[in-house]
Amino acid sequence: MTFQPRLDARLEMVLSLIRAEVHADIGTDHAGLPIRLVQTGRVRRCIGVELNAAPLELAHRQVARAGLGGQIELRQGDGLAPLGPGEVDSVSMTGLGAGTIAGVLERGRQGGQLPGRAVVQCNDSPLALRSWAREAGYWLEAETLVDGYWPYPVLAFTRAAGPDPAYDDLPLDAALRFGPQLLREHHPLLRRVLADAYGRYAPAAAPGRSAQRELDAVLEALAYLGWTVADLSSAEQ
Ligand SMILES: C[S@@+](CC[C@H](N)C(=O)[O-])C[C@H]1O[C@@H](n2cnc3c(N)ncnc32)[C@H](O)[C@@H]1O
Repeated sequence: MTFQPRLDARLEMVLSLIRAEVHADIGTDHAGLPIRLVQTGRVRRCIGVELNAAPLELAHRQVARAGLGGQIELRQGDGLAPLGPGEVDSVSMTGLGAGTIAGVLERGRQGGQLPGRAVVQCNDSPLALRSWAREAGYWLEAETLVDGYWPYPVLAFTRAAGPDPAYDDLPLDAALRFGPQLLREHHPLLRRVLADAYGRYAPAAAPGRSAQRELDAVLEALAYLGWTVADLSSAEQ
């Protein structure tokens, strides 16, 4: 029977947002995403990039087990550096911090290897990713939250000219932190995200402190959603 690695809910969501001729998964580790992308026909060919030797070895074993050595190529290296300009149609990077992912995307952009589409999943606030995209000329095409140990943000960006209309008519600080599409659709997991942010920043907030700006963004988001601080208590663990 063909080996089919099982993806968790966050990687299933990332998978559902990718369709390309040639795709690169950065920080591929177990190579579960490239294997399933090829097996489901969502991509024709995939390049898995991995910085470290031990996960790269695991990726090689997994790809061999799936019998996909002809369609999945594994390369050791940092971010998009092992890719040539124009070599892939899209990239993914998952399971890391937003700042790390944004740094990799930006270095790839400067090096000419970043394609027009990126699908990412970070383990913390996506503020750094949304801010990077606005600066770098990538529009937010899709975003969602996936339930897990915490609500995992999954975002897809597409290269486009001009200001991203996703942020039109929204309070910017709140939208950059909590997501323009998530705010517009009143995403059900936003309550947990906002409760967590409120619990973290409210005790430390005072005029002139960075925690005050973060708390103000939470309050802006609540006002946009028509929720109150009391509405957040049901989301606390
Ligand atoms: C936490 S694992 C996530 C694995 C997989 N992407 C997932 O979401 O399940 C992060 C992986 O990214 C690799 N990694 C970290 N920084 C990297 C970089 N700059 N370039 C390539 N790989 C990197 C690590 O070695 C590790 O295998």
